[in-house]
Amino acid sequence: MEKRAELYAGKAKTVYLTDDPDFLILHFRDDTSAFDGQRIEQLARKGLVNNHFNAFIMGKLRDAGIPVHFEKLLSNNEAQVKKLDMIPVECVVRNIAAGSLCRRLGVTEGIELNPPTFELFLKNDALHDPMINESHVETFGWAKAEHMAQMKALTYKVNDVLKKLFLDGGMLLVDYKLEFGLFKDQVVLGDEFSPDGCRLWDAETRKKLDKDRFRQGLGGVVEAYEEVATRLGMQLPA
Ligand code: ADP
Ligand code: TMP
Ligand code: ASP
Repeated sequence: MEKRAELYAGKAKTVYLTDDPDFLILHFRDDTSAFDGQRIEQLARKGLVNNHFNAFIMGKLRDAGIPVHFEKLLSNNEAQVKKLDMIPVECVVRNIAAGSLCRRLGVTEGIELNPPTFELFLKNDALHDPMINESHVETFGWAKAEHMAQMKALTYKVNDVLKKLFLDGGMLLVDYKLEFGLFKDQVVLGDEFSPDGCRLWDAETRKKLDKDRFRQGLGGVVEAYEEVATRLGMQLPA
């Protein structure tokens, strides 16, 4: 498979076409963004860490029967993925209250959410990713009702797999965001799963080990991501 023209440069990854119309190459850059791209900084090794992290998690999800776009690692910063027609809807599950849920509803950070909540956001930086619901998704044609139902079921299934995986490494999966797309009319998990798009806390101390370290200026961002990877048993290249 050969790399061809750049298709799209996002806030953290660049997407390339290949000579095979079914596949793309994702290049994970060191750019780290917050607040819908209003703040962007380069953090050394972040692209490498997230690319390897995503490969590891996507492998676990595939083993659990979840259809994923990830095919294989091509280099430290690049992965081969299936080319999806992305659905511009972000699916968020929360096990513990944090972030925008606390701001919107005045809920105290850290309370357990039982059952976990499921929320949808429109992927649109200019509108600051507004919260939407399933009827908006159908009415505005962002996804068919049947595909939306599959996205929701898969998002919960990811929670069952990953809550346990992180807990085995002494971490709480507080919340996470997933993006899906269609591949030959099948709903497939796309984009990435990394500490950029989820919240992870140490189970004992509740130390933040995810992108909130960047959002909140706590420092040690990539060091925290590497700690998570090590705790999951990953061996990252030097
Ligand atoms: P953003 O667009 O949010 O700034 P990134 O910098 O991570 O995000 O860019 C990656 C882009 O590639 C995103 O728009 C994402 O929706 C898209 N994408 C991820 N996986 C796939 C895929 N398998 N096929 C097509 N597009 C994808
Ligand atoms: P929130 O608390 O800001 O709504 O975010 C919930 C989770 O989803 C959190 O782990 C961060 C992730 N997320 C993204 O990665 N990108 C986004 O655009 C949004 C809205 C959330
Ligand atoms: N992913 C969004 C951004 O890059 C939101 C965030 O992470 O705060 O700006």
